[in-house]
Parts: sequence; C-alpha cells; structure tokens
Amino acid sequence: MPSDGVPPRIPGPPADDGAEAIAAAGGLHNYQLELHAEYGPVVRFPLPGADAAVSVADPVLLEATAKIDKRPEKLFEFLAPLQEAGNLQTIPAGEHGPWRRVMLSVLAGRPSHEAHFARFAALTTELADRWAAQDGPIALQQDLSELSLRMICQYALGSGLDSAGSAGRVVSAFETVLTEFMTQEGPGRDRADEALAYLRATVDEVLAAHRERGGVEQADRSDLIAALAAAGESPARIRDTVLMTMLAAHHTTGVAISWTLYLLAKHPDAADRVAKEIDDVLGDRAVPEYGDLKRLTYLDMVLREAMRLYPPGPYGAREATEDVVLGDYTVPAGTTIFYPFWAVHMNPEYWPDPQAFDPERFTPEASANRPRLAYIPFGIGPRSCEGSVLAMVEAELVLATLLKRFRLELTPGQTVTPIERFVLWAAEDIHMVLTPR
Ligand code: HEM
Repeated sequence: MPSDGVPPRIPGPPADDGAEAIAAAGGLHNYQLELHAEYGPVVRFPLPGADAAVSVADPVLLEATAKIDKRPEKLFEFLAPLQEAGNLQTIPAGEHGPWRRVMLSVLAGRPSHEAHFARFAALTTELADRWAAQDGPIALQQDLSELSLRMICQYALGSGLDSAGSAGRVVSAFETVLTEFMTQEGPGRDRADEALAYLRATVDEVLAAHRERGGVEQADRSDLIAALAAAGESPARIRDTVLMTMLAAHHTTGVAISWTLYLLAKHPDAADRVAKEIDDVLGDRAVPEYGDLKRLTYLDMVLREAMRLYPPGPYGAREATEDVVLGDYTVPAGTTIFYPFWAVHMNPEYWPDPQAFDPERFTPEASANRPRLAYIPFGIGPRSCEGSVLAMVEAELVLATLLKRFRLELTPGQTVTPIERFVLWAAEDIHMVLTPR
C-alpha cells in the first residue's frame, strides 16, 4: 500500500469499454491477452453480464482466490434451461461439495478408466477405420468432438446404451439439444424439448435398471449413475448431471485432441518423436492398453503443451464471498473474479517465449520450478473440472491410436483462427490429409 494509506485502484480500461472493445479484439479470449499486456497481472474491466470484474493472470496472486466456492449466477444463467434441479454450475457450496465428491470418486478413479477403456478403444478404432476409407481431407474438430461425445455417452450411460442404435440416438438427441435449446419457440424449440425428454427418459431407464439389479449394494466405482443414486442424489439431479457431464466433456476433449494434432503437424520433429515413442511402447499393437499410457511420457508433455497454447476452456469465473487481497489490491466481497486461463498460460514471467510450442516445458523438473497455478487448463479449486483425469486418459488413448496408424499433414493454404464458442475452437475447423504409416 502506498505511504499515504490510500489503497491503490486496480488499473483497467475505461468503464464504457464494453462489448464493442471485446468484439474489436476478436473475442473475450483475445481481449484478456490485450488487457493483461497493457495493464499488468490484475485488471478491472467491464464484463458484459457482470457489471465489473477483476481479472487475475498471475499464478501466485491467484492462490488467494483458490478456495472460493461460488460462481457468479448471472454469467451461467444461460445453462439454466437444461437443468431440472438447480443449475449445477452455480448451486451453493453446501450442495455442490457432496455432489463433487461422488463425481470425483468415479471420474478420477482408475477403476472407471479401466472398466471403460476397451470400449473407448473400440470407438476410436471405428473412427480410424472410417478415416482410412475416406477420400480427401478430414475435418478434425468435427470428427473428434463426435468421438468424444460417443465416449462420454458410453461412459455416463454405460449399460443404458445396450445397442448401437440407441447410442446413435442419444448422440443425435444431445446434438439437437445443443443446437436448438436456446430457441424460444417454433419447430427448433419443439425438437429440442423432444430430444431433452428422450435423454431424460434414457437416464431414467438406466436408473430403473440399476434399482432392479439391487440398487445401492451394486454401486461400484465405474458407474456414474449408480454412484450418484447410491449417494442419495435425486433422480432429477442425476438426469441433470448426465446432461452436464456430456456437455462439459465432449467439445473440450475433442478440441484438446485436435489442437494437439494441429501442433504436431506444424512441428514434424516433435511428431517423429511422438511416433517413435508410440512404436516403442505399443510394438505391433494398434491400440494402447490402459497401463501403456503412463509410459507415453512425451505424448503427455505434448498434450499438456497443446492445452497451454490452446486451453479448450479459455476462462472461468468466481464471485468473491469475502474481501480478497491480491498483492497491493483489495477486491471487495461480491466482485466477479475472472480467470483468464489463456492469459495465465501466456504470462511471459513463467513461460518464456510464450507463443513457442515447446513440450520440454513439461518435463518433471521444469514443472517443479513453476508455481502450481501457472498451468490451469482444468481450472482452480473446489469448482475445478472433475473430469480432468478422465479427459487425459481419453485424449492420450485417441492420440496414441491415431498417431500409430496415420501421419497427419495440414491441407495447404488454410488459416486456422482460434475463436471462442463455449470452447476455444478453430473457426473453420482444422483440415488434414492422412497417410498411413
Ligand atoms: C480436455 C478436456 C477438458 C478440459 C480442458 C476441461 C476444462 C474445464 C474447465 C476449465 C472447467 C471450469 C473450471 C473452473 O471453473 O475452475 C471445467 C468444469 C467442468 N468439467 Fe471439464 N474439461 C475437460 C473435460 C471434461 C470431462 C471429460 C468431463 C466429464 C467427464 C468434464 C466435466 C466437467 C464438469 C462436471 C465441470 C463443472 C465443475 C463444477 O462446477 O464443479 N470435463 N472443465
């Protein structure tokens, strides 16, 4: 604090620098980079939908916010129509905590990864076979998001997807909900309502089947719905959870894999090293087993570096529940605290030459020398991503399988522009030409 005792004011752009400035920057993700480059690590800015917000791009200062267990309601209101039992993004901490523990007990645990691994591998092989038979370039994001959605449907609904037919129907119903659910009225809205009703009925069928099998006693650590039921969550909350999990899991994982393949295509030396590692670990096998993943250490570093450069979820938010001290500044209770994940990953103090692709940043030694919150693609604290470990398993399985089989090259002349639409997405997709290896 300065010697005159007056707390310094958090720097930032003029208060009327709102939606237009964000549009001029090419989106909120770019605007954050500009703001932090100009005003430093703590910036006050007018966030549309939240009055004023304070954005923090310094990993050491972020520690003071890491235990906040509240998201600002207004910013997440758009998801409310999907939920029956309260918006899972913003339910109060007392309700969220027990729910989170059940989610983590399944999503983060090895038993569930092992139980679903063979099915994930089969779905990936189906895509690889389709690619091998396809003439012309492939669109990475489209195909990989769909694959991720298939995997998460299988994971979340398990025994509910007993036939390929119903899996296909769940995937397309979910896509209808996503594209149409914002529509206020008309045929789009009717289609969305129908699709939503079908998805909810499917979860109810899975719940009923679980009850028939003996309910609580049968719950194990690989069955999400059974675990939620055994913990006493209501059927409506379970239906919401399945939808929210599908929503949170599929584009994020799909673009993480896409950006990784993109960066490897731009860096043939790294691509060669990944291919060699995969050959060494897999030998003649076309797909990895679960136990192989921990030996694919360079692939893991490449994936982490890809999510640093292109964090699938480019930002997050909290609401200060009490005054928060950020270095010289004090942020009053009630303020929206904005997490600019991308700007944190581009902070030159912790990431020298931040634009450069360099997987060596993720050797164990290099990682140990950085503050823990310098790298936060899955967010921070009690509302961070419950699916982070599962996402890494899925992404590494898919990457190892595809890179064992193909070499990928960018089609010439395309421009790849990251834009933000729920996730950090390439505006015109990423188009690749494949050659069998
Ligand atoms: C590479 C893939 C993924 C990325 C980059 C990612 C990233 C994120 C981020 C940044 C958040 C917000 C965290 C915060 O506010 O601090 C989040 C939340 C969440 N993610 Fe993920 N995610 C991924 C995959 C998944 C998967 C596979 C699942 C589930 C199977 C999942 C489930 C969730 C859920 C349920 C939340 C809400 C957390 C809460 O409110 O408690 N995510 N994710």
